[in-house]
Amino acid sequence: MIYANNAATTWPKPEPVYAAHDRALRDAGVTTRSSSKAAPRGADALAAPRAVIAKFLNAPDPSRLLFSPGCTASLNQAIRGLPWEAGDVIAISGLEHHAVSRPARRVVRDHGVRLEVSPYRPGRPVDLDWLESILKRGRVRLVAMTMASNVTGDIFPSKAIVDLAHRHGALALLDGAQSAGVLPVDLKALGCDLFATAGHKGLFGPPGIGLLYIAPSADLKPWLEGGTGRDSGKHENHPGFPHAFEAGTHNVPAVVALAAGVTWIAEKGREWIHRTEQALCGEFLKGLERLDGVRVYGTTDLEARTSVVSLNADRVNPRDLAAWLAEHHDVVTRAGYHCSPLAHESIGTLPGEGTLRCSFGCFNTAAEVDALLGHLGKGIRELRK
Ligand SMILES: Cc1ncc(COP(=O)(O)O)c(C=O)c1O
Repeated sequence: MIYANNAATTWPKPEPVYAAHDRALRDAGVTTRSSSKAAPRGADALAAPRAVIAKFLNAPDPSRLLFSPGCTASLNQAIRGLPWEAGDVIAISGLEHHAVSRPARRVVRDHGVRLEVSPYRPGRPVDLDWLESILKRGRVRLVAMTMASNVTGDIFPSKAIVDLAHRHGALALLDGAQSAGVLPVDLKALGCDLFATAGHKGLFGPPGIGLLYIAPSADLKPWLEGGTGRDSGKHENHPGFPHAFEAGTHNVPAVVALAAGVTWIAEKGREWIHRTEQALCGEFLKGLERLDGVRVYGTTDLEARTSVVSLNADRVNPRDLAAWLAEHHDVVTRAGYHCSPLAHESIGTLPGEGTLRCSFGCFNTAAEVDALLGHLGKGIRELRK
């Protein structure tokens, strides 16, 4: 099998991730809410993993780095938890995933907020002049943008986005789902008010775990209430971090496995992962140039993109091509709209059938890229007959 769907979820995971998950699931009494003497072991099960991950992301305050069921949950909490008022504005890019655009449209419907969407051009995933003009008009409460596109791979100028938002009194939310573990993510340096990411992509955790960083500048209302193991005899939720935003029993095996993934990255070196993926992507893009009638979306500048490649071949439906690759050569890709219709509207593939997306991870090899190019060429010729 050739796995070229790492933008959806990374596979395989490093061995220590499987081991940590297995160990945590077998370890009796490891819940996080056991304040009783009978089960004291679980009380701090999250402290060490939280510290490891906070250090990796350089989060200014580890207690504000929250575990969630996933990036979608984190983004919903971040966007829908703000004190929206009618007439406020939320600005997003033209490449956003549903996990940003749908909660954004929800606050539009629920609170009379106005949604502004940045125009897109390859090599310029967000138009900073446009953003400044929107911010200057006033009432922008939130600028919410991904750090890298899950469709085109375009890398965003995240620091410039945050600074611009702050200069005009808006909050900045960054979606790190396609960047954490691959690109530099330094929360202190970025200075964003909110940061959300998935655990199961570049950080090599399992599904069902995500992260949300809430800086003191963001006044959020928790959207989930329940047991936190704090103030257990009281009716009101404990107000402190992280408890106020982590109601319910944690997915401890996933948290521990995520920390193992992050530890592995730190040992290997994030830079090494990035360069490995970049090299594979470079070979792939070079090979695609040799295929007849193939178009790549987004920038081809390797310094300005990740290893997520969206493409189309003339007169070939991308879904048919993905199915052909899977059926004939056991190649895993993903075709269609990638939960990002906005992005496909921006690149001109909706209306249309979307794209075929091939995304590489550090466990892919040059031989796999070579084989995939061969299979692609053959599949395109077959399907054009
Ligand atoms: C850019 C981006 N944001 C958010 C998400 C949502 O992540 P999850 O489905 O893990 O919640 C994804 C997942 O594909 C993504 O690519």
